[in-house]
Amino acid sequence: MPVTVVIGAQWGDEGKGRIVDYLAQDAHLVVRPQGGDNAGHTVVNARGTFKLHLIPSGIFRPECTCLLGTGMVINPVQLLTEIDELERSGLDMSRLFISSRASIIMPYHLVLDRLSDAARGDVSIGTTSRGIGPAYADKAARRAPRMGDLLHPDYLRTHLEAALPHVNNSLAHLGEKPVELDQILAQCERWAEALGPRIVDSIPLVQAAITDGKNVLLEGQGGMMRDLDWGIYPYVTSSNPVAAGAVTGAGIPPTHQSDVLGVVKVYSTCVGAGPFPVELKDDVGRHLREVGQEYGATTGRPRRCGWLDAVVLAQAAWLNGFTGMAVTKLDVLDALPEIQICVGYRSGDQVLKTLPHNEVLEKVTPVYERWPGWQTETGDARTWDELPANAQAYLRRIEELAGAPIHYISVGPEREAMITLPIGRQRPPA
Ligand code: GDP
Ligand code: IMO
Ligand code: MG
Repeated sequence: MPVTVVIGAQWGDEGKGRIVDYLAQDAHLVVRPQGGDNAGHTVVNARGTFKLHLIPSGIFRPECTCLLGTGMVINPVQLLTEIDELERSGLDMSRLFISSRASIIMPYHLVLDRLSDAARGDVSIGTTSRGIGPAYADKAARRAPRMGDLLHPDYLRTHLEAALPHVNNSLAHLGEKPVELDQILAQCERWAEALGPRIVDSIPLVQAAITDGKNVLLEGQGGMMRDLDWGIYPYVTSSNPVAAGAVTGAGIPPTHQSDVLGVVKVYSTCVGAGPFPVELKDDVGRHLREVGQEYGATTGRPRRCGWLDAVVLAQAAWLNGFTGMAVTKLDVLDALPEIQICVGYRSGDQVLKTLPHNEVLEKVTPVYERWPGWQTETGDARTWDELPANAQAYLRRIEELAGAPIHYISVGPEREAMITLPIGRQRPPA
């Protein structure tokens, strides 16, 4: 199947970057369809360890073209830093393009994000402070500058002039100084010079790859639980990390049949606020954090950790229509004598199998299934048969709960630490 949508099935940080770096060996084009530099996608390969925020994880494959898609919000300052870092590590960056329709994150969006989240007090979202929410809000309110506007300075001046009174009102409300049009335009001129040649109409690029039958990957940002519509609103990001959001953001018609690969970490992590019923504040939670190195790739914040949540997994499988799954971080469970899976939420005398309203979700008690651990190192396994029987049983249970077959099993952060299973099979070999 030429288009594969790589989607985060949980709260984000499932290992999407690591999976895309692996899959891009056969890809012609990798598109980031949505989100911005709230992403922290870690890639570990022969060149080193990289934390990508904006640039698609296909960039390490010399044959791959990479595109920052229309559904993104792009901070040019961050993008230039990232291009520079990758260029210094010897990569050819001439293969990187930016959709002219993508929105720009302006410096004032960062200020608005930080101050408005803090102003929410007890119900702050714990955003990444990268300006994501305010930039998408401006986009929806039709006052966001777009990357293509950088190439049309007169048009940009007229439209920014119309937008700035609102921006300055918001800044004043939060006790900040107003921004000045000429200063912003001067900055835009520098960005236009540095990024101009990469800014393109993305439609012919994506359309040609698809009509020529080339492999195209869409690299999702965040996870289903942070989806603006389907996640734990308001503790969500401001874009749609689900597969439907990815095809919209990349400009691929929904009638084009795509594979949807759900990336599933074998336990749960969450960074930022919001109800998280499976959170473990005990030694097991600390074990998962330390062994899994669960610290935010963008903010460095410690991630909240817990057992796999199958209620969340089932919702992700349905909303995204997983045709397959890539499970990650199996090795992190190696030392544990017992592993648990949350299969429902107890609320009073009921066991809920779907996500309830946040007020209920905050008070539920998870109902766990218990699985024996394997207490064997899996990091060197490269085939299904090399996995301990208890690990195989745990993985089969994940397939049953999601109703989708596993195609990839990641057993370490490095590119080669991967088990691939035949695509097309419904279950791993017995
Ligand atoms: P993303 O945002 O979905 O791309 O995920 P992140 O990069 O934010 O977080 C995933 C973390 O887990 C990174 O530190 C990866 O290097 C690491 N990782 C990915 N897959 C594996 C794995 O199979 N085993 C281990 N131990 N680490 C992994
Ligand atoms: P990747 O692509 C984990 C979370 C933030 C916060 C909420 C809103 O690396 O999986 P935002 O800055 O987007 O307005 O923050 O969403 N969040 C993520 N958590 N991984 C991500 O990206 C995330 N992107 C946003 O922590 O709770
Ligand atoms: Mg991440």
